[in-house]
Amino acid sequence: MSTTSLTTSLPVPDHADRLRAALLAAGFTADGLLDRLGAPAYAALARSETVPALRATRGDGALDALVRLFLLQQRVPYEQARSALPMDEALADGWVARDGDGVRAAVDVRPYGGPDGEDWYIVSDLGCAVGGASGAGGRGEGVVLGVGGASTTLAGLTVRTPVASALDLGTGSGIQALHATRHATRVTATDLNPRALEFTRLTLALSGAPEAELRTGSLFEPVGSETYDLIVSNPPFVISPGARLTYRDGGMGGDDLCRVLVQQAGERLNDGGYAQFLANWQHVEGEDWKDRVRSWVPRGCDAWIIQREVQDVTQYTELWLRDAGDHRAGPEEYQARYEAWLDEFEARRTKAVGFGWITLRRSGADEPSVVVEEWPHPVEQPLGETVRAHFARQDYLRARDDAALLADHFVLAPEVVQEQVGLPGAEDPEHVILRQNRGMRRATKVDTVGAGFTGVCDGTLSAGRILDAIAQLTGEDPVVLRDRTPRAIRLLVEEGFLEPARPDGRG
Ligand SMILES: C[S@@+](CC[C@H](N)C(=O)[O-])C[C@H]1O[C@@H](n2cnc3c(N)ncnc32)[C@H](O)[C@@H]1O
Repeated sequence: MSTTSLTTSLPVPDHADRLRAALLAAGFTADGLLDRLGAPAYAALARSETVPALRATRGDGALDALVRLFLLQQRVPYEQARSALPMDEALADGWVARDGDGVRAAVDVRPYGGPDGEDWYIVSDLGCAVGGASGAGGRGEGVVLGVGGASTTLAGLTVRTPVASALDLGTGSGIQALHATRHATRVTATDLNPRALEFTRLTLALSGAPEAELRTGSLFEPVGSETYDLIVSNPPFVISPGARLTYRDGGMGGDDLCRVLVQQAGERLNDGGYAQFLANWQHVEGEDWKDRVRSWVPRGCDAWIIQREVQDVTQYTELWLRDAGDHRAGPEEYQARYEAWLDEFEARRTKAVGFGWITLRRSGADEPSVVVEEWPHPVEQPLGETVRAHFARQDYLRARDDAALLADHFVLAPEVVQEQVGLPGAEDPEHVILRQNRGMRRATKVDTVGAGFTGVCDGTLSAGRILDAIAQLTGEDPVVLRDRTPRAIRLLVEEGFLEPARPDGRG
């Protein structure tokens, strides 16, 4: 069975450098668009609303022509298009096609600013971002979408340490592969949908990025037993009653696709390598969701699993029915589809679905650290460095028993503040909160010892010496204090409130 019902042939990137030069010269960049459209129309476009941008691009300049062609999918007069593009190449390579006395774009080309101000372009199927927020409503099953919120979330989460090899599994229009070309010597991008790989090739070429190895196939099948330093995947994680849209419906039952992906990633990671996924998981009656996802973690890997959101099955169903444009079907059709989703969840005894982030790191540790937590609060992206630091802290903690921990010196992590909560006018706070203003933006309640301890952590004294001083002030037995506090210190280190004063933990 073909994975696509979209038969139009796609452009070839033979003259991508010429096209790229023309786009840049016209100011068809993320910054250029913001300037030309103004913030409200620019933001509306990001919400897939095109009317404000149409109104802002009625001029006859090159940038207006490009916005209308590639973002708004309008017919543009030939002469105006010619002021913006090398037309012979653009027509010959298939980026645009003649339409009467004008031209139309064959694909959606969207400026995308890289993390270091790179002017990149994401090439995807026409129509997915036009005509109001409707996801891929009415498109063929093999439609290739551009960048969505999930794509940028994963790109922000990804650990960006320079590596030899990276794999982007389910590359779509290539955004994760594009990011990986900045810090991986060799990038492999795979997709079940062959059209997606054609789009990835175009995205990389038009962005002026190095080529990637492109391989068609399901899950890890196209890479066999090859191993990587980094694996990323924003997979088709939607838990649905049947596979209709390749970009989101994995075609395996329930959350099986995510489970298999996570389970099989372990043996494809080099030592110290990371695998990072977005995933959905079932909340099954009588089962703790944490146990469910913990059971997916492969041997030899540490894991950090964060549940960001939970939706009950009705919210979840409505989200994806709207995404597919099913809300525009007649009431009977809509009801039938809605029921099919609820039947599926009922059969799987599933009450809700969790959305979250899964990172594995191949540590080879005898006692792997598997942290599964719920953190629905705002975070500061990009989090790649926070993710890397989480695993470095796990290595650090694993290597130290309590005595070694107390011999070490700590500093308060940058941008941690203390908040005292209590009734106005009260002499003592009811409780003290430590709050991170960066990264995960965690907050944690500490007792008086915890507050006093973190307050003097400037790296000068060892943890044990600080506890002895606190014991002297409070009259508590120092031996008891040394005995009971390491657990709390471990937690503060694990969550990134305290950092070892030197990477090796020695003062
Ligand atoms: C949600 S999209 C992600 C696209 C892109 N990586 C991003 O981050 O925006 C999921 C992609 O996985 C692909 N896909 C679907 N089933 C797959 C499978 N069994 N194996 C590999 N890729 C698959 C789809 O074609 C689609 O391109």
